Amino acid sequence: MPSRILVVGSSNTDLVIYCDRLPRPGETVLGGEFQTFGGGKGANQAVAAARAGGNVTFVAARGADDFGKAARDRLAAEGIDLDYFQIAPGVPSGVALILVDGKTRDNLIAVAKSANDALDFTMVSAARPAFARADVVIAQLEIRDEVIEAVAGLCGELGKRWILNPAPTRPLSQPVLAAVHTIVVNEHEAKDYSGVADFDQAVRWFLGQGCKQVVVTLGSEGVIYAGAEGKGRIAAPRVQPVDTTGAGDCFVGWLGVGIADGLSLAEAAEQATRAASLKVTRAGAQAGMPYRAEVTGDG
Ligand code: RIB
Repeated sequence: MPSRILVVGSSNTDLVIYCDRLPRPGETVLGGEFQTFGGGKGANQAVAAARAGGNVTFVAARGADDFGKAARDRLAAEGIDLDYFQIAPGVPSGVALILVDGKTRDNLIAVAKSANDALDFTMVSAARPAFARADVVIAQLEIRDEVIEAVAGLCGELGKRWILNPAPTRPLSQPVLAAVHTIVVNEHEAKDYSGVADFDQAVRWFLGQGCKQVVVTLGSEGVIYAGAEGKGRIAAPRVQPVDTTGAGDCFVGWLGVGIADGLSLAEAAEQATRAASLKVTRAGAQAGMPYRAEVTGDG
C-alpha cells in the first residue's frame, strides 16, 4: 500500500525566463525563450511526493481562470487527489515570475499569492477526513497563518507527523513549532529563524523549540539532519545544474514519502538528496521532478 501524504499549500504557474545573468535593480538583461511551468511550493511538493510513490491529497485554492484549470489538469495527471483543491471565486490563480541565471542556474522568484490567500481555516478544517487518513502531512508558508495554525491543530489532535518547510520565512509561534515533527529549512531560513549562522547551533535552536527532527538543506553541499535517531551529514551528488527551481520542494516531497514509508531520517534524507540532485538537472519545478525508478531503481 502506498503511503498517504497530505500536502497543504500553494499552487502557482511559473513564468520563467532563463537569462544570460540575473539583472540588478533598474537593469534590463536579455534572456532566451520564455517558458511556463507548473509551480507553487505546495503543488511542487505534492508532485514530488506522487512521483516518489506516495498516495497524495492536495489541499489548496486556485482561481477559476486558465492558469488554475491548467494547474488542476497537471496535478490530476499525476494521480493526485484534488477533492480539496478549491476554486476561489473572483480571484486570479497564483503566479510566480522567475528569472534563472544562465551560468550559475540560481534563480530570483517573486510570487503573486492571489488565490493561495483564499485558503482559510474553514477549508482546511473541512479536510479533516484526509488528515485522519494521512501517514504524513506537509505544509509550507505561501499560505495564510490561520491555515498553518489549522494544520498544527489538526496534526496535534490526530497525532499526525507534520513536515513543515517554512518558506518563505515569516515569524512562527512557539506552539506551531512545537507541533512540527520534521522541520526542513535551507541555510538562509535556518539563520533567519534561529538568529545564528552556525548550523549546529541552529539545529539545537529548532530542537529547543519542540521540533522533533531538523533537516538543513545546503544545496550542492548536501544536508545536515538531527533528531532522536541521531545526527549526521549527507553529501549531494555532483551534477551539472540546469534549473534549481523546486529542488527544495523535491527534497521535501521525497523526505515525506521516505518518513511515511518507515525509513530512518538518515535514509529518507539520503534518498531525498538524490532526488533533489536529479531535479536540478532539469527545467521546470514540477516538470523536473524525478520518478521513483530514477531515484531508487526499484520502480
Ligand atoms: O520553490 C519553488 C517555487 O516557489 C516555484 O515553483 C514558485 O512558484 C514559488 O512558489
